[in-house]
Amino acid sequence: MVKDEEVDGLAKDIMTAKKVVVLSGAGMSVESNIAPFRGPGGLWEKYDPVEYGHITTLRNAPEKAWMMLSEMQREIMKAKPNKGHYALAKLEEMGHIRSIITQNVDGLHHVAGSRDVIEFHGNLQSVICMDCNYTVPSSEVSLDRIPPFCGKCNGPVKPNAVFFGEAIPSEVIKRADQESNSCDLMLVVGTSAEVQPAASMPSLAKNAGAKVVEINISETPFTGYVSDYIIKGPAGDVLEKLLNKVAALKAFG
Ligand code: APR
Repeated sequence: MVKDEEVDGLAKDIMTAKKVVVLSGAGMSVESNIAPFRGPGGLWEKYDPVEYGHITTLRNAPEKAWMMLSEMQREIMKAKPNKGHYALAKLEEMGHIRSIITQNVDGLHHVAGSRDVIEFHGNLQSVICMDCNYTVPSSEVSLDRIPPFCGKCNGPVKPNAVFFGEAIPSEVIKRADQESNSCDLMLVVGTSAEVQPAASMPSLAKNAGAKVVEINISETPFTGYVSDYIIKGPAGDVLEKLLNKVAALKAFG
């Protein structure tokens, strides 16, 4: 458990910051029972990312890609936001967080009430036909038959997420760059800092003069290089304590 006083400094940093931006990764949703990609119990321990998470596999061997995708979909359908998602949504409502750049495809920041969420890798909430572009919510796609097919033209469908081998939409990168370059505090929550271009956002923020603070259960390649400090602990626990500290500072100064 993280000690209250460890979040004191971050609460003060948030109170004095002009613009706070968050970069979140899979560690944000572990307390919502969604497996991370790397580390103990990670999805990539079970499925080789390039073999299963690549757009070429989805095109040439859809039954293989959908074996992993259906497992992710089932986990996400059952998942609920955790106290960390709600804490970030509340801090946005209080005016202390401007935007969240998330690498996650579970949509839980939206469900928790965050409004300005930049989904760097899209999301698994809907699927699109690769032939006719017909798009439906994932909840309407039966996973009894793998791979699923388009209800309109029977073509192959793909979730609206960005696969390995696909480009991040340019407007998403532009917005994420803008937010990273214009903040004076970036919280980096639950990411292993392994995947580009998302992992460049904290360095952009740092080079633009921002303070970068990590919230993670363990150190990452950012620690001691890009980040000014790390608060070690589960994101939900740390963020809930952070919200309470900020609320107390607002109320009592
Ligand atoms: N609280 C905070 N951090 C946590 C928690 C937790 N409860 N549990 C795990 N972590 C941390 C791990 O220490 C690790 O640093 O979350 C991070 C998870 O790392 P990854 O699984 O690599 O997830 P992420 O960084 O989001 O991956 C980036 O890689 O495979 C691609 O597209 C995929 O978006 C993903 C990208």
